[in-house]
Amino acid sequence: MANIQIRKFRDEDAETVKEMFTLGMSEHVPSSFMHLLKQPPTQMVLMCMFCALLTSSKSFLLPILAVTLLLAAARQTVVYMFNKYIDTSLKKDLNNITETYLKKKDSCFWVAESDGRVVGSVACLPAEKELGCLELKRMSVRRSHRGMGIAKALCRTVADFTRDRGYPAVILYTSVVQTDAQKLYEHMGYEKIREFVVPELFAKIMNFTLFEYKLDLQRRD
Ligand SMILES: CC(C)(COP(=O)(O)OP(=O)(O)OC[C@H]1O[C@@H](n2cnc3c(N)ncnc32)[C@H](O)[C@@H]1OP(=O)(O)O)[C@@H](O)C(=O)NCCC(=O)NCCS
Repeated sequence: MANIQIRKFRDEDAETVKEMFTLGMSEHVPSSFMHLLKQPPTQMVLMCMFCALLTSSKSFLLPILAVTLLLAAARQTVVYMFNKYIDTSLKKDLNNITETYLKKKDSCFWVAESDGRVVGSVACLPAEKELGCLELKRMSVRRSHRGMGIAKALCRTVADFTRDRGYPAVILYTSVVQTDAQKLYEHMGYEKIREFVVPELFAKIMNFTLFEYKLDLQRRD
């Protein structure tokens, strides 16, 4: 691994951490849009609309225009969905990392630093839905520093913290489009224990699935 240091979050890291999280989430917009296009109901709606307009207008212009507009609207909706998630995350904890993670029991927020620059982050806190486990959150590594083992080191930091506090397992959630994250967690010994579609209308339409992963620390010891 490159010359990387993992340390606890400090207040002066706040803007960098928020920017890194926002960029890391926004980069999933194109793959989420592709995911939507691959869904059979989406393809059916596009095909039916195209055929109906072609038959009624007897011209290719109208159906092509309509499909293009529908695709543009769908992409904007995906962007809106991600922006909403980013805003919610900022309001929920990232705007106040010290209060949320550093002043609370069994919670922490770390950053990875390379040559004095913050290039990665991870956090953990008691899981809301799986009592007795800690939840890993806010894993993100700057694009320029990917593939160097930084995320693996951040995962180990969370596992060590969880073990030291006597918790038996770490859980986390990631999505169907975050394929690098899925590979990372599976590589680190996490097992997928549940998958479910996000309970919001557009997420249901695009079959946007979340995966719950668990690292059983007792079994690994
Ligand atoms: C997921 C993410 C954190 C990985 O960061 P990283 O520092 O590049 O990961 P590492 O270098 O530690 O790689 C760890 C392992 O993950 C897997 N992995 C990570 N990126 C991969 C890729 N692009 N292709 C294949 N495997 C990959 C590999 O198994 C790798 O181990 P290996 O190199 O020994 O094979 C990073 O891609 C990221 O920040 N993505 C955007 C934000 C995000 O989706 N966060 C997850 C929130 S749940």
